[in-house]
Amino acid sequence: MAELSLTVNGEDHTVDVDPAKPLADVLRDELGLPGTKQSCSTGICGACTVRIDGEARKSCLHMAGAVEDADIRTVEDLVDGETNELHPVQEAFLEEFSFQCGFCTPGFLNSTLSLLDENPNPTEEEIKDALHGNICRCTGYVAILEGVKAAAEKYDPETEVEAAGD
Ligand code: FES
Ligand code: FES
Repeated sequence: MAELSLTVNGEDHTVDVDPAKPLADVLRDELGLPGTKQSCSTGICGACTVRIDGEARKSCLHMAGAVEDADIRTVEDLVDGETNELHPVQEAFLEEFSFQCGFCTPGFLNSTLSLLDENPNPTEEEIKDALHGNICRCTGYVAILEGVKAAAEKYDPETEVEAAGD
């Protein structure tokens, strides 16, 4: 066990955990952030995708001790903490019915946001490439693709203030 300092959704946390514990487990079990889902725990499904320093990363593959000092963002960061308004990427997924059970959605949202922050106007091929690490067992992907395209229309990384964070 060790005392680790983690910055999650703009807040500093100190946790007493095994540094080798997967970040996904720490987020869920220690920090009470169940929006990050876990399925395979082997880096295949993408359900656990969060943003680490702006990059979409599978949190089941990152040891908590290796991400001290990183800026970690989970799906809980997307909703505006003051107004409860959804992030434009969430609105786009809702409007395009880009989910059914929703289990994969937090991962897709984080991958989408990471993509659009880098590339606000991605081509269909670039979207597919960015989401290739996320698996959905319900939707067949067409609606998700449409959701990402709609998100690109709605979301302007230049003007958007990170919702619940900074
Ligand atoms: S739970 Fe992390 S990739 Fe599946
Ligand atoms: S909506 Fe059910 S797994 Fe994607």
